[in-house]
Amino acid sequence: MSRLRSAMHKGKRAGGEVVETALPKRKKSKAAVKQASEFTAVGMHPALPNLILQAHVLEESTDASTPSPYHTFPDPADVVQFRSQLLNWYNKEKRELQWRTLAVTESDINIRTYAVWVSEIMLQQTQVATVKDYYNRWMKRWPTVQDLAAATLEEVNQLWAGLGYYSRGRRLHEGAQKVASELKGQMPQTVDTLLKQLPGVGRYTAAAIGSIAQGLVTGAVDGNVTRVLCRLRAIGADSTSPAVTEALWNLANMLVDPERPGDFNQAMMELGARVCTPKGPLCSQCPVQSHCHSYRKVHVRQEQNSKKLLGKLGRKTSELPDIEDCMNSGTCPLCPSEPWDDELGVQNFPRKPPKKPPRVERTLTCVVTRPGDKDEENFLLIQRPNKGLLAGLWEFPSLLLEEENSEKNQKRALCDEISRILGVHLTESLLQYVGEVVHIFSHIHQTYVVYSVCLKESDTHTHTENTQWLTRSALQEAAVSTGLKKIVKLYDSVDSLKEKNTKDGRRQKDSGIMENKKPQISKKHKLGAANSSGRQLSLNSFFKTVKEECR
Ligand code: ADE
Repeated sequence: MSRLRSAMHKGKRAGGEVVETALPKRKKSKAAVKQASEFTAVGMHPALPNLILQAHVLEESTDASTPSPYHTFPDPADVVQFRSQLLNWYNKEKRELQWRTLAVTESDINIRTYAVWVSEIMLQQTQVATVKDYYNRWMKRWPTVQDLAAATLEEVNQLWAGLGYYSRGRRLHEGAQKVASELKGQMPQTVDTLLKQLPGVGRYTAAAIGSIAQGLVTGAVDGNVTRVLCRLRAIGADSTSPAVTEALWNLANMLVDPERPGDFNQAMMELGARVCTPKGPLCSQCPVQSHCHSYRKVHVRQEQNSKKLLGKLGRKTSELPDIEDCMNSGTCPLCPSEPWDDELGVQNFPRKPPKKPPRVERTLTCVVTRPGDKDEENFLLIQRPNKGLLAGLWEFPSLLLEEENSEKNQKRALCDEISRILGVHLTESLLQYVGEVVHIFSHIHQTYVVYSVCLKESDTHTHTENTQWLTRSALQEAAVSTGLKKIVKLYDSVDSLKEKNTKDGRRQKDSGIMENKKPQISKKHKLGAANSSGRQLSLNSFFKTVKEECR
């Protein structure tokens, strides 16, 4: 197929294997040959001469597992129209994004590919709106793959801080070093080599980079495109199943516009992100509405239901399958196993298997501070190991709570750990409870149980490797996670609430009201000071409800 495609197009094409997977080898049967000829034809440029097409189809076109035409685009004219409607919409509606601009204005293919690679990695699991600023800062700092290769991982983590899924930044850095040292600065130029040579680049990312930066003719299926295609062609089986995955890639490869593959793929993503959204899709604004089986189904069902209400439809008729449904629905690997739900409308598609519930963890953490220059508060940070969750990032001294251990014992253990790091002896009564912060990672529901302790400068000279004291402004810039930033926010809000209470107390005291009340205790204990008591409980309950979005 790719040979034929390249014979037809002067443009470049994708690395063989991705496009070729669009057409599995087939057993020969008359029906399959016909169906496959329709299926194959639309994967090619519409101008492909019939003869070549026929010969090709007979060569490859016979597999019983070929999807029913209901789930494909059997009419080449529909494909031509689909591309044109989608790209016209994209021309008018697309967001101007820095990586899109670079993909069309940058003349150096290595810089262009690098720029799109960075954008695609940042966009994995992260919204465009969040990525924009990070992307601009990144490209300003490291405009070429060589610049990134020369950076340190610490600098990369620092710039990535807050974007989440930190292994992405590490892999970009690792990949850049590989390109600079092993590939002489040349970015891979086929889908296959992008996939094999760049760490963190999978099937989708390789196809996206190849099509957007290099004009390779390949479809690209991410979450947005999955939703769009499943709705368009009423694919309701588990969208993560091998049969659906393969069908979606085949569809994407047959639909992609050979003249503008990068724009076509981005238009599909854009449609999924802005119109064909997971919830509340804007079908009335959809440029390819006329091709959408789900949309049509919603209207057919509405009509049937209103006729039923009016008694115009006999029960038997209303139970007949919709003539536009898949003809193999009993055995079709792409059809839903559950019945259509009128309330969901087009949101009947796609279907995903239920998510595994996240692991629940509690971690004790302590904000350790000391007065620095000009009495500015300094924070003690420890670097996490180079592998695993939040690898290489800086955090407050922390200890994962073990189920079999009491919180009290663990608090003692955390205190011992801080003592070890600093080479001083701390007792756990010095650790003051601040509150709790909930942070949701993709697979972990993490609760940080936050304590604080403020030390004297003289107690904090000794420290071990991978520890540092940071001023507040340095902390803002450091390679720290969003979870840590939330802890600082909690710590600060307790502080300001205390200050407010203290001031109010003083005002009341001045007026004589507080005469017999206990004085407020500063949250930041000096080493050797007594611990606080009752008052803190009300703060605890106040902050128990702090629940935040995750990254
Ligand atoms: N998501 C992944 N790649 C994208 C792109 N190039 N534009 C918009 N959203 C995307």
